Amino acid sequence: MWEYTDKVMDLFHNPRNQGTITEKEEGQAITTGEVGSIACGDALRLHLKVDEVSEIILDAKFQTFGCASAIASSSALTELLVGKTIDEALNLTNKEIADFLGGLPEEKMHCSVMGQEALEAAIFNYRGIPLDNHEDDEGTLICRCFGVTDTRIRRIVLENDITTAEQVTNYIKAGGGCTTCLADIDDIIAEILQEKTTAVAVATEVVKAKEDNQPLTTLQKITLIQQVLQEEIKPALAQDGGDVDLHDVEGDLVKVILKGACDSCPSSTATLKMGIEARLRERVSPELTVIAV
Ligand code: FES
Repeated sequence: MWEYTDKVMDLFHNPRNQGTITEKEEGQAITTGEVGSIACGDALRLHLKVDEVSEIILDAKFQTFGCASAIASSSALTELLVGKTIDEALNLTNKEIADFLGGLPEEKMHCSVMGQEALEAAIFNYRGIPLDNHEDDEGTLICRCFGVTDTRIRRIVLENDITTAEQVTNYIKAGGGCTTCLADIDDIIAEILQEKTTAVAVATEVVKAKEDNQPLTTLQKITLIQQVLQEEIKPALAQDGGDVDLHDVEGDLVKVILKGACDSCPSSTATLKMGIEARLRERVSPELTVIAV
């Protein structure tokens, strides 16, 4: 038997915002996001009503097929969304849904992930971005049983401070079938932990170099660029279905690869110069020039 918080039990027995949205006024839009499959277990359909000018979410309702934590997570999601703008909603993580509930049993964290996925699907639909532009679907396929890529595993590990493959299985099911991918998941986690250790060490060196007015070494520069891309630029681009990867750094020349919606976007030059280059100049070095390759 799972240990549920009082909040989970309350929202399971008295779910808020259950149902659909069918009525809207002029200047409002209704969008829907769906994840899972009723035939295979948990499924969630999320409905949002959005003010088309301010992009504020006016109403959120859900239809869920699943266990107590799936229903409570869906209910929590709708409560967290009303009043937020679409941009703010896109930054909502599964961890915030779980925190709203006072926590979920580790084995049930996938319910909070399902909420976040339905939200992203609804927003992609609202913005007319094809769902196959989702950054999590790019990258190398790691878990064939559940169709999970390394990009998706990296994201869930980073957002939830995950340290074991078993936790990854609990959150997004990867590794929970034939188990042949568990070693690869362990490798990804080890890589991320190593990156975090290096990033902390380099950040300390960068602070000291700046205090001493010393130029950054190449390693310090690359590490700092990666950090700014990961923490600030990628999340901003993801809001419009875009993405960017660092390709190479030669002196002050930074070569990047634009991906997803950014790749074919007519405004990609503006994104490159005003979004990526300006931010890297501000955070890393004013001498940097960014080009797409
Ligand atoms: S390949 Fe991941 S569980 Fe089978």
